[in-house]
Amino acid sequence: MAVITYELVHEDAQTGARAGRIHTPHGSFDTPMFMPVGTQATVKTLSPEEVAETGAGIILSNTYHLFLRPGTELIKAAGGLHQFMKWPRAMLTDSGGFQVFSLGAMRKIKEEGVYFRSHIDGSKQFLSPEVATRAQMDLGADIAMAFDECIPYPADYEYAKQSTERTTRWAKRCLEVHEHPAQGMFGIIQGGMYRDLRAQSAREITALPFDGFAIGGLSVGEPHDLMYEMLDYTTHLMPRDKARYLMGVGTPDCLVEGVARGVDMFDCVYPTRVARNGMAMLKTGRLNIKNKQFERDFSPLDAECDCYACRHYTRAYIRHLYKAEEIFAFRLLSVHNIHFLQRFMRGLREAILEDRFGDFQRDFWAQWQR
Ligand code: GUN
Ligand code: ZN
Repeated sequence: MAVITYELVHEDAQTGARAGRIHTPHGSFDTPMFMPVGTQATVKTLSPEEVAETGAGIILSNTYHLFLRPGTELIKAAGGLHQFMKWPRAMLTDSGGFQVFSLGAMRKIKEEGVYFRSHIDGSKQFLSPEVATRAQMDLGADIAMAFDECIPYPADYEYAKQSTERTTRWAKRCLEVHEHPAQGMFGIIQGGMYRDLRAQSAREITALPFDGFAIGGLSVGEPHDLMYEMLDYTTHLMPRDKARYLMGVGTPDCLVEGVARGVDMFDCVYPTRVARNGMAMLKTGRLNIKNKQFERDFSPLDAECDCYACRHYTRAYIRHLYKAEEIFAFRLLSVHNIHFLQRFMRGLREAILEDRFGDFQRDFWAQWQR
């Protein structure tokens, strides 16, 4: 019996959108689902109880950061990442295949793995399929990710091809060393912005015995239309009976378009990052709490929201806190944004279950500002 299973509950009659349920050793959650990001074993500014209260059934953490600090061996000694950070529900760790490639000049890619310098102290480090997989086994999340290369945009064809083929070889090496009784592993499809490479990667990666499949290398600076085109093309080549995860996507517009193309899971730092920049997410776009117009606005951030921040506090108050550089402002905006996305995803799911996702998509675009 696989550790991670995907249950298809309903496919929308109007689009490719699917409603499902994913089962893990730390509980089940409905899909489509957005995973809040807890990069350094914390969803920034929030307690696990506060994250759970937003309805999130799974969060993501990063191997890259925890590998460098405090070290995955220490977290293993603490009883694993769930125990260390006291998050009782499902968890996924990214492999480091994205963070390490964002380091630019500080890294060197070889067939055996990636040599890089720590962003913390400049020390020499090495991550490979084997090292990243063992680190993720130490962390013990419910879902580990294969070690891949996220191809930058733009990339020339020859580079993208070499990289995509290396990602497949790395995926096989990850599976060879991965053995954990309570952890599944997802493969990652790359291919840059080239259809034939996406097809090749989808074919090669989905032929391997992973528990689910992610689409990587998107939302890396390309125009949205190009991302949607690549996504459309890729999801059609993925199996129906496994989870599909679009990495690094978390704005409402991209979530709607991802779900329309059959994606089940998403993650992004966006809701918590923009919260710390004074932004509240709304279904029409973003509200910038710094704006003068909210100085005497005694209404909640979002009249439709029932989160802790919206139940208790006004725009004027949160604006004041933000202006005064009070930490509570970051907390309230983060609670709201994560809660907003959980509610947003539940709305998408209900539309799928009622075969009206296409209508939902049209109504969404009619009121989306940017
Ligand atoms: N996060 C966003 N994009 C990617 C990707 O392509 N690979 C990995 N490992 N993580 C990501
Ligand atoms: Zn709210």
